[in-house]
Formats: sequence, structure tokens, C-alpha cells
Amino acid sequence: MNYHVLTLFPEMIDRAAHTSILGRALKNGCIHLETTNIRDYSADKHMRVDDYPYGGGAGMVIEAEPLYRAYSAVKNKIGHKPRTIYLTPQAKVLNQTMVEELALEEDLVMICGHYEGIDERVLDEVVTDYISIGDYVLTGGELGAMVLIDAVSRFVPGVLSNEESAQFESLQDNLLEYPHYTRPEIWHEKKVPEILLSGDHKKIEEWRHERSIERTKERRPDLLRQSMKVHCAFYGKDALREMAGKLCQTLSQYGEVIDFNRKKLRKQKYYFDSQDLVVLLADEQFEKDAGVPETFTNIYGKDTPCFIFWSDSFVHGIESEQTKQTDKIQRLLDKRGFLIKKIYPLSTIESSCKETALEIRKI
Ligand code: ADE
Repeated sequence: MNYHVLTLFPEMIDRAAHTSILGRALKNGCIHLETTNIRDYSADKHMRVDDYPYGGGAGMVIEAEPLYRAYSAVKNKIGHKPRTIYLTPQAKVLNQTMVEELALEEDLVMICGHYEGIDERVLDEVVTDYISIGDYVLTGGELGAMVLIDAVSRFVPGVLSNEESAQFESLQDNLLEYPHYTRPEIWHEKKVPEILLSGDHKKIEEWRHERSIERTKERRPDLLRQSMKVHCAFYGKDALREMAGKLCQTLSQYGEVIDFNRKKLRKQKYYFDSQDLVVLLADEQFEKDAGVPETFTNIYGKDTPCFIFWSDSFVHGIESEQTKQTDKIQRLLDKRGFLIKKIYPLSTIESSCKETALEIRKI
């Protein structure tokens, strides 16, 4: 990951980035950071980059031209129009999904404003994303850029140790972390929860998930409303089981895979609501079995978002008995309260699992 920060105070970024985990990542080359002083691109002999605002009012405004020149120098180095973020309180507040999406880029340009702001015309031309780090006003964008660099870097391979980064195989679930404990077993007469000493990993995982939900309900009910329980139901060959598992795990740490090859599970009734996210997957085996009658027909939604992965031949193929079958299922799902958001060819899981999962999670 290459970070390029355009700022009037490069030392603020350089100092903060060269310590701790980011410092280590810069040293070992997992991330690169280049700060550009906008002032170096001033056309003024006094190196001035700001001027009074048209229309009057307090404060100064950063001029379009010096920033545009600084940006163009960075853009030419990168070789294409890069993802360019303007840090400003007048924007959507950064969250974990945005962080994970930004971590997929190779280059990120960040523009830090100061004073009253930046001439709008240059922002219109160069900015691709406006991001705030919170609903408060800072003296400039540098701390915002640092927050972004820190949060994004955690997802860059090699920045964290293997152990530290294992948790990032899944997208984050909009849930707060469960509580942590270490030795001693009893401290100030408070005992570590028994289950954590049991060695039963499945139970421990369930307990942690419950504590996460409980804590989120208590401290961030707004986040809990955005949290979704993921269910991936599939019908097809063994390779599809693997694909469903991979997608489900990428979508959520706590997702559920339902194997509709098993008659018992196919026949069972499933009820979902708007907090569930349902993903259905079927390969050409489904085509061969002419859509085994009960598959995907015993599920009931209530404004439940639904994504479908059909075999590539269904999605791209010409109309046939099988595509009629998939159409029939789509119509049925629609009637049953599912909101079909998008239909993908199965091959997208192989070629771009994380990107697809991020797209799904953006709904
Ligand atoms: N610049 C000033 N305030 C900011 C904020 N809240 N987020 C990002 N950049 C800023």
C-alpha cells in the first residue's frame, strides 16, 4: 500500500507514522508513505497558498492551483487517476467497511485541509471520496489522515503478525468485541468466566458471540441495527460446498452454511427477517437435477435481502428449461418476501471473493 499525503504540515504525519506498528511496517516495506508539502507548489514568491474567501467571512481558503499542482505531481508518479480522499467533517463518517474497501487499493492519496477549507473547484476535479473521522471539527485533516492510514494498514498483508491478522479473514460484523481476560484467574475477588477455562472451543466461540451482541446492544444499539446474520444455502457438488464456505466466512465471522444437498435440510422450513442476509448458491448439478423441487422453496423472508450465485451458464446462458427454472425460483423468492439484490455468476467467488463480499455487505 502506498500512501500519499498532501498537507501543509508534513512533519505531523511523518512523526506519527514512524512509530509503533506503522513504523515497523514502513521499515519492512509493507506500506510506503510519501508526504507532499502543498506549499512547495505555490507560485507565489512568498510561498503563499491561501487567500481571502470570495463573498467575505472569517478565515482563509487554500487556493486551487497549488493543490492541483501538488496533486498532479503525485498522480503522474502513480501513473493513473488515483483514489483521492479529502478529509473533512462535511462527509460520511469512516467505518470498518469503508476501511476494508480502501485497503484493497494500491495507492491512496489523502488531502488535508486547513484554515476555512479548500477552493471547491479543485476538490470537484480531483477528489473521489470525502471522508470524516467523526462528527466534530479538528484544526486540520492531518489527524484524520493518520486515523485512516492506521485503520487501513491493519488490513495490509504483513503489517500485523499472522496471529494478529487471523481475525481479518472475515469482514467485521458491526459488532463490538467481547470482553477479554488474562491471568490471574481471580482479581479483586472477580473470577474469569468459567467457560473460558473449559477448553471447549465451540462453546467459547458461542459465548464470545453472545457477549459481543450483548455489549453492542448496550453500548452501540445503532451498530446492532446494521449488523446482519449471514446464511449461505447451497445445492451442488463438493466444490460448491467449499465456495459457499469461503464466501460465508468472508461475509461474517458468525455466518451459517446450509447444505441443501441434504434432503432433511431442504425440506425444513426457514424463516428470515430484515436483519438476516440470505445468499443462495447453485451450480450446474442443480441444472442437471432440474432444480430438485424443494430446493430454495421452503424459505420465507420478511424484507430479507437476498443474493444469488447461479452457475455461470445460468447467468450468461441463453433461455433454456434451466433458466426458466431459475426464473421461477426468483419469482417465488420475490413473492416470499425476499429482496433479490443481485445475481452473480459463481465464478466471481473464485476470482474476487473479498471484493464481492464487500459489495454485498454495502447494501
Ligand atoms: N478535518 C477537520 N475535522 C475533520 C474531521 N472530523 N474528520 C476529518 N477531517 C477533518
